[in-house]
Amino acid sequence: MDVAEIRDQIPGLRFGVYLNTGGVGQAPASVSQAITAGYRLMADGRLSPIDWYEAMSKAASEIPAKIADFFGADSTEIALTMSTGDGFGMVLGGLRWEPGDEVLITSEEHPVPLQAVQGLADREGAVIKEVELDHGKDVILERVERAITPRTRLICFSHVTTDSGTLLPAGEICALARARGILTLWDGCQAVGQLPVDLHGMGCDFYATNCYKWLLAPIGTGFLYVRRDVQQALKPLRRPHDPSASARQYEMGSPASVLYLGVGASLDFMTCIGGPRAIAAEASRKAEGLWARLDAIPGVQVVSSRRPETRSGIVTFAIAGMEGDEVSTALRQRWQIVQRGTYMTDPTGVRISVAFYTSDAELDTLVEAVTTLAGEAKR
Ligand SMILES: Cc1ncc(COP(=O)(O)O)c(C=O)c1O
Repeated sequence: MDVAEIRDQIPGLRFGVYLNTGGVGQAPASVSQAITAGYRLMADGRLSPIDWYEAMSKAASEIPAKIADFFGADSTEIALTMSTGDGFGMVLGGLRWEPGDEVLITSEEHPVPLQAVQGLADREGAVIKEVELDHGKDVILERVERAITPRTRLICFSHVTTDSGTLLPAGEICALARARGILTLWDGCQAVGQLPVDLHGMGCDFYATNCYKWLLAPIGTGFLYVRRDVQQALKPLRRPHDPSASARQYEMGSPASVLYLGVGASLDFMTCIGGPRAIAAEASRKAEGLWARLDAIPGVQVVSSRRPETRSGIVTFAIAGMEGDEVSTALRQRWQIVQRGTYMTDPTGVRISVAFYTSDAELDTLVEAVTTLAGEAKR
């Protein structure tokens, strides 16, 4: 992969050190061009607004098939959403619940899915049970098994967690759940575009994500995967259920069609530069190198997993004697390094998103800055 050449296609990377793809990804020029070209068809008067609406709706109607191809699903299993939270609402609101039904979450869920599950508990009397994360895959599986009771209805986990970037053994958890008649809903937004995700291979029931992080597409776009068989059980929130219709029945009203042209362009871009496996391999190599360099700095603790089975491109570290936010602010103000502080890791730290497009020079700047800060920190 020729990273220098790829970086030339991503204009935002020219400005400073960008290590927050887990916050918002840097879109290639082709994404903004696709959206702008779509919008101009109407704004320049080439199409009347109503013809434009129809043209954009038709173009967006091709996106579920494209997403399905990229993520190993069938096009009838993909609904277009605005966000991860939007997909969570469709699932949690569309299933039938009994008071006392149990939902398992991990100890490191982002506020959006967490609040969605808390809302379910509030409305339906569901009980939330937390599974403590670990770097060991077998420990995670054992804890999940131990947390399951006859009342467990849903396992609702991040595929890759937001603060420490722990990759969960999703396929094994889905198999374990399926064997017990438990449904699985995954928050995929730190995984899609970062790692190869094969939805049929994984065996999940529901998978919700946005497209604006590692998928490098616009904010306001996302998708929800609903496995064909569970479409019988999931009712649309805002319209009658048609078990024979596609997952697009879970949407309501007119989607931001023109933005999905950006999703199509980002998927084309990713395919063009080598596809999910090559992308993951490039980021993984760099993340592993960064892990080792940060770990070698006195006073620095890397809190992300280094084990191949649970690590990802997110490398989170802490500096002894400093709060995560303090380190994050100093990196931003003194070295113009964009990243973010973590609050769910113990100790709190800084989350570095290592993407395929991250340059060696960016990582060198980071390591130098962290060395300076760790040297200055009162221990
Ligand atoms: C793991 C995780 N889930 C959910 C979200 C929020 O997703 P959305 O804004 O698409 O609802 C984020 C955003 O940072 C996240 O990291």
